[in-house]
Amino acid sequence: MAEHEKFHYRDLSELTAAVDALAAALPISEDVSALAQPVGVGRRTLPNRLAVHPMEGCDGTPDGAPGELTFRRYERFAAGGAGLIWVEATAVVGEGRANPRQLWLHAGSAAGFAELVARTRRAAEAAGFRPGLFLQLTHSGRYSKPQGRPAPIIAHHSAVLDPGTFVRPDQPVIADDALDAHVRVLLRWAERSRDGGTTPARTTSTSGGRRSARRAGMGRCRTWRRSWGTWAR
Ligand SMILES: Cc1cc2nc3c(=O)[nH]c(=O)nc-3n(C[C@H](O)[C@H](O)[C@H](O)COP(=O)(O)O)c2cc1C
Repeated sequence: MAEHEKFHYRDLSELTAAVDALAAALPISEDVSALAQPVGVGRRTLPNRLAVHPMEGCDGTPDGAPGELTFRRYERFAAGGAGLIWVEATAVVGEGRANPRQLWLHAGSAAGFAELVARTRRAAEAAGFRPGLFLQLTHSGRYSKPQGRPAPIIAHHSAVLDPGTFVRPDQPVIADDALDAHVRVLLRWAERSRDGGTTPARTTSTSGGRRSARRAGMGRCRTWRRSWGTWAR
């Protein structure tokens, strides 16, 4: 058997057969009623435990607003009844976009995001649901490709990550002031998007926890140090 396998099982019997073949200690229950129970997140209660993960559709407009396919996707997610819809990675500065069609929240696109929230909520309510809407604000850092070509921005050099990306060995790291300014923009939009009907969960870093973020250069950012974890509500 391969070291890793895709989760290709089509029903429970295929899964239990694989678990038996591996002699894995993996308890399986046919009772999924627990998923229908409410769950607390910060100061909120989500109506059930099903979650739509953040998944970039790369179908925003060139200026970063949600496009027709984006609206369609979130309306469909909403009608599905998940208790949490975690809206995909959204840039707050143009140079931090992962691709030219990544969502990008800024003054010129904010109205489109408000419409996305409104249409998503309407679709959920029409189907009898009231999900929590969370918005994932990101900067793509070393993976930035705002014009479709690699244009990495780094807060530190990494012996592990640099070789797989377009980071040059002599590429300068982002200056302290620029890093701080970016985190301030991020927090401002987190606050404004909360007013617009989504809930910023808390400030973290995309890959790894606080310690790895600190090691990855964020420790030198005053605003990040002050704001870490302050948004859970
Ligand atoms: C097309 C696609 C887009 C994704 N976009 C994001 C994203 O915007 N933010 C994020 O944190 N994870 C993103 N992910 C990761 C998913 O949210 C999810 O955690 C992951 O796919 C689950 O793991 P699995 O694919 O191994 O089942 C994406 C995954 C896919 C397949």
